[in-house]
Amino acid sequence: MQIFVSIPEVKARVQEAKSGGRSIGFVPTMGFLHEGHLSLVRASVRDAGFTVVSIFVNPAQFAPHEDFEDYPRDMERDLDFLRAEGVDVVFTPPRDAVYPADYHTYVEVHGLQERLCGNSRPQFFRGVCTVVLKLFHIIEPDVAFFGQKDAQQSAIIRRMVKDLGLDVRIEVCPIVRDSDGLALSSRNAYFNVDQREAALCLSRSLDLARAKITAGERNTGRIISIIRDEIEAEPQAKIDYVEIVDADELLPKDKVEEGDLIALAVYIDHIRLIDNLII
Ligand code: PAJ
Repeated sequence: MQIFVSIPEVKARVQEAKSGGRSIGFVPTMGFLHEGHLSLVRASVRDAGFTVVSIFVNPAQFAPHEDFEDYPRDMERDLDFLRAEGVDVVFTPPRDAVYPADYHTYVEVHGLQERLCGNSRPQFFRGVCTVVLKLFHIIEPDVAFFGQKDAQQSAIIRRMVKDLGLDVRIEVCPIVRDSDGLALSSRNAYFNVDQREAALCLSRSLDLARAKITAGERNTGRIISIIRDEIEAEPQAKIDYVEIVDADELLPKDKVEEGDLIALAVYIDHIRLIDNLII
Protein backbone atom coordinates (compact mmCIF):
# COMPACT_ATOMS: atom_id res chain seq x y z
CA MET A 1 0.00 0.00 0.00
CA GLN A 2 1.39 3.39 -0.96
CA ILE A 3 0.59 6.56 0.97
CA PHE A 4 0.58 9.93 -0.79
CA VAL A 5 0.23 13.45 0.53
CA SER A 6 1.12 15.21 -2.73
CA ILE A 7 -1.56 15.80 -5.41
CA PRO A 8 0.80 15.47 -8.43
CA GLU A 9 2.31 12.27 -7.02
CA VAL A 10 -1.01 10.53 -6.35
CA LYS A 11 -2.27 11.60 -9.79
CA ALA A 12 0.80 10.11 -11.44
CA ARG A 13 0.41 6.80 -9.57
CA VAL A 14 -3.30 6.47 -10.38
CA GLN A 15 -2.72 7.36 -14.05
CA GLU A 16 -0.05 4.67 -14.21
CA ALA A 17 -2.54 2.10 -12.86
CA LYS A 18 -5.12 3.31 -15.40
CA SER A 19 -2.76 3.00 -18.31
CA GLY A 20 -2.00 -0.54 -17.09
CA GLY A 21 -5.71 -1.21 -17.76
CA ARG A 22 -6.93 -1.23 -14.15
CA SER A 23 -10.28 0.30 -13.22
CA ILE A 24 -10.04 2.77 -10.34
CA GLY A 25 -12.29 2.47 -7.28
CA PHE A 26 -12.35 5.38 -4.85
CA VAL A 27 -13.57 5.67 -1.23
CA PRO A 28 -13.47 9.21 0.22
CA THR A 29 -13.39 9.32 4.04
CA MET A 30 -12.53 11.59 6.94
CA GLY A 31 -10.71 8.76 8.71
CA PHE A 32 -11.15 7.22 12.17
CA LEU A 33 -12.30 4.21 10.21
CA HIS A 34 -14.83 1.63 11.36
CA GLU A 35 -16.65 -1.30 9.77
CA GLY A 36 -18.98 1.10 7.92
CA HIS A 37 -16.07 2.66 6.05
CA LEU A 38 -14.46 -0.74 5.60
CA SER A 39 -17.62 -2.10 3.94
CA LEU A 40 -17.13 0.53 1.21
CA VAL A 41 -13.43 -0.34 0.95
CA ARG A 42 -14.29 -4.03 0.56
CA ALA A 43 -16.84 -3.23 -2.15
CA SER A 44 -14.17 -1.28 -4.02
CA VAL A 45 -11.48 -3.95 -3.63
CA ARG A 46 -14.01 -6.49 -4.93
CA ASP A 47 -15.33 -4.43 -7.86
CA ALA A 48 -12.36 -2.37 -9.04
CA GLY A 49 -8.85 -3.33 -10.10
CA PHE A 50 -7.18 -0.59 -8.05
CA THR A 51 -8.53 0.99 -4.86
CA VAL A 52 -7.76 4.49 -3.62
CA VAL A 53 -8.96 5.65 -0.18
CA SER A 54 -8.69 9.29 0.85
CA ILE A 55 -8.44 10.42 4.46
CA PHE A 56 -9.06 14.13 4.82
CA VAL A 57 -10.99 15.88 7.58
CA ASN A 58 -12.55 18.52 5.37
CA PRO A 59 -12.69 21.92 7.12
CA ALA A 60 -15.16 23.29 4.54
CA GLN A 61 -17.97 21.03 5.80
CA PHE A 62 -17.68 22.10 9.45
CA ALA A 63 -19.26 25.31 10.77
CA PRO A 64 -17.06 27.40 13.10
CA HIS A 65 -18.90 26.07 16.20
CA GLU A 66 -18.69 22.42 15.06
CA ASP A 67 -16.13 19.76 15.97
CA PHE A 68 -13.42 20.17 13.26
CA GLU A 69 -10.56 20.47 15.77
CA ASP A 70 -11.89 17.67 17.99
CA TYR A 71 -12.97 15.32 15.19
CA PRO A 72 -11.45 11.92 16.12
CA ARG A 73 -8.25 11.06 14.25
CA ASP A 74 -5.96 8.02 14.31
CA MET A 75 -3.89 7.77 11.14
CA GLU A 76 -1.74 4.81 12.17
CA ARG A 77 -4.74 2.66 13.06
CA ASP A 78 -6.53 3.68 9.84
CA LEU A 79 -3.51 2.74 7.73
CA ASP A 80 -3.30 -0.68 9.43
CA PHE A 81 -6.98 -1.34 8.64
CA LEU A 82 -6.56 -0.30 5.02
CA ARG A 83 -3.40 -2.36 4.54
CA ALA A 84 -5.29 -5.43 5.83
CA GLU A 85 -8.07 -4.81 3.25
CA GLY A 86 -5.64 -4.80 0.31
CA VAL A 87 -6.01 -1.10 -0.55
CA ASP A 88 -3.53 0.08 -3.20
CA VAL A 89 -3.24 3.79 -2.41
CA VAL A 90 -4.12 6.06 0.52
CA PHE A 91 -4.29 9.76 -0.25
CA THR A 92 -4.11 12.09 2.73
CA PRO A 93 -3.42 15.63 1.58
CA PRO A 94 -2.56 18.50 3.92
CA ARG A 95 -5.21 21.16 4.34
CA ASP A 96 -3.45 23.83 2.24
CA ALA A 97 -2.98 21.47 -0.71
CA VAL A 98 -6.78 21.25 -0.96
CA TYR A 99 -7.61 24.79 0.20
CA PRO A 100 -4.69 27.18 -0.42
CA ALA A 101 -4.93 30.57 1.29
CA ASP A 102 -6.39 32.17 -1.88
CA TYR A 103 -9.10 29.48 -2.41
CA HIS A 104 -12.49 30.77 -3.70
CA THR A 105 -14.46 28.09 -5.59
CA TYR A 106 -17.34 26.09 -4.09
CA VAL A 107 -19.92 23.68 -5.50
CA GLU A 108 -23.57 23.88 -4.43
CA VAL A 109 -26.51 21.61 -5.23
CA HIS A 110 -29.40 24.01 -4.68
CA GLY A 111 -32.71 22.59 -3.58
CA LEU A 112 -31.26 19.38 -2.19
CA GLN A 113 -28.61 20.94 0.04
CA GLU A 114 -31.11 23.03 2.03
CA ARG A 115 -33.34 20.08 3.01
CA LEU A 116 -33.07 17.67 5.99
CA CYS A 117 -29.59 18.17 7.50
CA GLY A 118 -29.16 21.37 5.47
CA ASN A 119 -31.53 23.17 7.85
CA SER A 120 -29.26 22.89 10.86
CA ARG A 121 -25.97 22.62 8.90
CA PRO A 122 -26.31 25.20 6.08
CA GLN A 123 -22.60 25.05 5.13
CA PHE A 124 -22.33 21.29 5.18
CA PHE A 125 -23.19 19.99 1.69
CA ARG A 126 -21.40 22.86 -0.04
CA GLY A 127 -18.25 21.71 1.77
CA VAL A 128 -18.89 18.05 0.97
CA CYS A 129 -19.56 18.64 -2.74
CA THR A 130 -16.56 20.92 -3.11
CA VAL A 131 -14.12 18.44 -1.60
CA VAL A 132 -15.64 15.42 -3.36
CA LEU A 133 -15.47 17.17 -6.75
CA LYS A 134 -11.86 18.18 -6.07
CA LEU A 135 -10.99 14.61 -5.09
CA PHE A 136 -12.76 13.25 -8.19
CA HIS A 137 -10.62 15.56 -10.34
CA ILE A 138 -7.45 14.36 -8.64
CA ILE A 139 -8.21 10.62 -8.61
CA GLU A 140 -10.45 10.38 -11.74
CA PRO A 141 -12.10 7.19 -10.44
CA ASP A 142 -14.25 4.91 -12.58
CA VAL A 143 -16.41 4.16 -9.55
CA ALA A 144 -16.76 5.85 -6.15
CA PHE A 145 -18.35 4.34 -3.04
CA PHE A 146 -20.57 6.15 -0.54
CA GLY A 147 -22.66 4.93 2.42
CA GLN A 148 -26.44 4.93 2.76
CA LYS A 149 -25.77 6.03 6.36
CA ASP A 150 -25.41 9.54 4.93
CA ALA A 151 -28.45 9.24 2.67
CA GLN A 152 -28.73 12.94 1.82
CA GLN A 153 -25.01 13.16 1.07
CA SER A 154 -25.28 10.20 -1.32
CA ALA A 155 -28.34 11.72 -3.05
CA ILE A 156 -26.56 15.07 -3.45
CA ILE A 157 -23.36 13.51 -4.80
CA ARG A 158 -25.40 11.47 -7.30
CA ARG A 159 -27.11 14.69 -8.38
CA MET A 160 -23.85 16.63 -8.69
CA VAL A 161 -22.39 13.84 -10.85
CA LYS A 162 -25.50 13.83 -13.08
CA ASP A 163 -25.78 17.62 -13.37
CA LEU A 164 -22.09 18.13 -14.14
CA GLY A 165 -21.91 15.07 -16.41
CA LEU A 166 -18.99 13.59 -14.48
CA ASP A 167 -17.64 10.31 -15.79
CA VAL A 168 -17.83 8.35 -12.53
CA ARG A 169 -20.25 5.68 -11.35
CA ILE A 170 -21.60 6.18 -7.82
CA GLU A 171 -22.24 3.08 -5.71
CA VAL A 172 -24.18 3.45 -2.46
CA CYS A 173 -23.57 0.70 0.14
CA PRO A 174 -25.97 -0.32 2.96
CA ILE A 175 -25.75 1.02 6.53
CA VAL A 176 -23.49 -1.02 8.80
CA ARG A 177 -24.78 -1.25 12.38
CA ASP A 178 -23.52 -2.55 15.70
CA SER A 179 -25.22 -5.74 16.90
CA ASP A 180 -27.63 -3.63 19.03
CA GLY A 181 -28.73 -1.58 16.01
CA LEU A 182 -26.71 1.64 16.44
CA ALA A 183 -25.45 2.81 13.04
CA LEU A 184 -21.65 2.98 13.11
CA SER A 185 -20.25 6.51 13.04
CA SER A 186 -16.88 8.05 13.85
CA ARG A 187 -18.77 10.35 16.23
CA ASN A 188 -19.91 7.36 18.35
CA ALA A 189 -16.41 7.69 19.85
CA TYR A 190 -17.72 10.73 21.79
CA PHE A 191 -20.28 8.69 23.79
CA ASN A 192 -20.12 7.63 27.43
CA VAL A 193 -22.00 4.45 28.39
CA ASP A 194 -25.30 6.26 29.15
CA GLN A 195 -25.29 8.29 25.95
CA ARG A 196 -24.49 5.21 23.88
CA GLU A 197 -27.52 3.47 25.43
CA ALA A 198 -29.72 6.53 24.81
CA ALA A 199 -28.60 6.63 21.16
CA LEU A 200 -30.34 3.31 20.52
CA CYS A 201 -33.65 5.20 20.35
CA LEU A 202 -32.81 6.19 16.74
CA SER A 203 -32.62 2.68 15.29
CA ARG A 204 -35.41 1.49 17.61
CA SER A 205 -37.74 4.18 16.27
CA LEU A 206 -36.93 3.18 12.68
CA ASP A 207 -37.62 -0.47 13.52
CA LEU A 208 -41.05 0.53 14.84
CA ALA A 209 -41.72 2.50 11.65
CA ARG A 210 -40.67 -0.44 9.50
CA ALA A 211 -43.00 -2.78 11.42
CA LYS A 212 -45.92 -0.34 11.02
CA ILE A 213 -45.31 -0.01 7.28
CA THR A 214 -45.02 -3.78 6.90
CA ALA A 215 -48.38 -4.02 8.69
CA GLY A 216 -49.88 -1.74 6.01
CA GLU A 217 -49.57 1.83 7.37
CA ARG A 218 -48.92 4.36 4.56
CA ASN A 219 -49.81 7.68 6.20
CA THR A 220 -46.50 9.51 6.74
CA GLY A 221 -47.91 11.76 9.50
CA ARG A 222 -48.80 8.72 11.60
CA ILE A 223 -45.47 7.00 10.90
CA ILE A 224 -43.58 10.17 11.89
CA SER A 225 -45.60 10.37 15.16
CA ILE A 226 -44.60 6.82 16.06
CA ILE A 227 -40.94 7.67 15.47
CA ARG A 228 -41.14 10.96 17.41
CA ASP A 229 -42.92 9.32 20.37
CA GLU A 230 -40.22 6.66 20.64
CA ILE A 231 -37.39 9.21 20.52
CA GLU A 232 -39.10 11.68 22.86
CA ALA A 233 -39.46 8.91 25.46
CA GLU A 234 -35.66 9.05 25.81
CA PRO A 235 -34.83 11.96 28.16
CA GLN A 236 -31.33 12.57 26.75
CA ALA A 237 -32.59 12.79 23.15
CA LYS A 238 -33.67 15.95 21.34
CA ILE A 239 -35.08 15.68 17.81
CA ASP A 240 -33.57 17.87 15.09
CA TYR A 241 -35.87 16.45 12.38
CA VAL A 242 -37.84 13.37 11.39
CA GLU A 243 -38.97 13.36 7.75
CA ILE A 244 -40.27 10.99 5.11
CA VAL A 245 -39.18 12.11 1.65
CA ASP A 246 -38.69 10.76 -1.85
CA ALA A 247 -35.14 9.51 -2.39
CA ASP A 248 -34.21 11.81 -5.31
CA GLU A 249 -35.62 15.28 -4.60
CA LEU A 250 -35.85 14.75 -0.82
CA LEU A 251 -39.33 16.32 -0.77
CA PRO A 252 -41.85 15.38 1.96
CA LYS A 253 -44.45 12.74 1.10
CA ASP A 254 -48.05 12.30 2.33
CA LYS A 255 -48.15 8.60 1.60
CA VAL A 256 -45.10 6.41 1.87
CA GLU A 257 -44.08 4.35 -1.17
CA GLU A 258 -41.35 1.87 -1.97
CA GLY A 259 -38.02 3.63 -2.39
CA ASP A 260 -38.91 6.54 -0.09
CA LEU A 261 -36.51 7.62 2.64
CA ILE A 262 -37.26 8.00 6.35
CA ALA A 263 -34.49 10.26 7.65
CA LEU A 264 -33.86 11.60 11.11
CA ALA A 265 -31.34 13.61 13.07
CA VAL A 266 -31.28 13.60 16.87
CA TYR A 267 -29.08 15.19 19.48
CA ILE A 268 -27.98 12.96 22.36
CA ASP A 269 -26.85 15.73 24.71
CA HIS A 270 -24.72 17.83 22.33
CA ILE A 271 -23.79 14.96 19.97
CA ARG A 272 -25.75 15.03 16.72
CA LEU A 273 -26.58 11.65 15.17
CA ILE A 274 -28.32 10.72 11.94
CA ASP A 275 -30.00 7.52 10.84
CA ASN A 276 -32.37 6.49 8.08
CA LEU A 277 -34.35 3.76 6.43
CA ILE A 278 -35.17 3.18 2.77
CA ILE A 279 -38.64 1.68 2.37
P1 PAJ B 1 -17.05 9.94 6.67
O1 PAJ B 1 -18.03 10.36 7.69
O2 PAJ B 1 -15.67 9.53 7.10
O3 PAJ B 1 -17.69 8.77 5.86
C1 PAJ B 1 -17.05 8.24 4.71
C2 PAJ B 1 -18.02 7.30 4.00
O4 PAJ B 1 -18.35 6.21 4.87
C3 PAJ B 1 -19.35 8.00 3.64
O5 PAJ B 1 -19.72 7.65 2.31
C4 PAJ B 1 -20.30 7.46 4.68
O6 PAJ B 1 -21.66 7.43 4.24
C5 PAJ B 1 -19.76 6.05 4.88
N1 PAJ B 1 -20.21 5.50 6.17
C6 PAJ B 1 -20.05 6.08 7.40
N2 PAJ B 1 -20.66 5.32 8.35
C7 PAJ B 1 -21.22 4.26 7.70
C8 PAJ B 1 -22.01 3.13 8.11
N3 PAJ B 1 -22.32 2.93 9.39
N4 PAJ B 1 -22.42 2.26 7.17
C9 PAJ B 1 -22.10 2.46 5.86
N5 PAJ B 1 -21.37 3.50 5.40
C10 PAJ B 1 -20.94 4.39 6.30
O7 PAJ B 1 -18.93 11.21 4.73
C11 PAJ B 1 -17.82 11.70 4.87
O8 PAJ B 1 -16.81 11.12 5.62
C12 PAJ B 1 -17.43 13.03 4.23
O9 PAJ B 1 -18.55 13.85 4.12
C13 PAJ B 1 -16.74 12.85 2.83
C14 PAJ B 1 -17.68 12.19 1.82
C15 PAJ B 1 -15.45 12.03 2.98
C16 PAJ B 1 -16.35 14.26 2.29
O10 PAJ B 1 -15.53 14.93 3.16
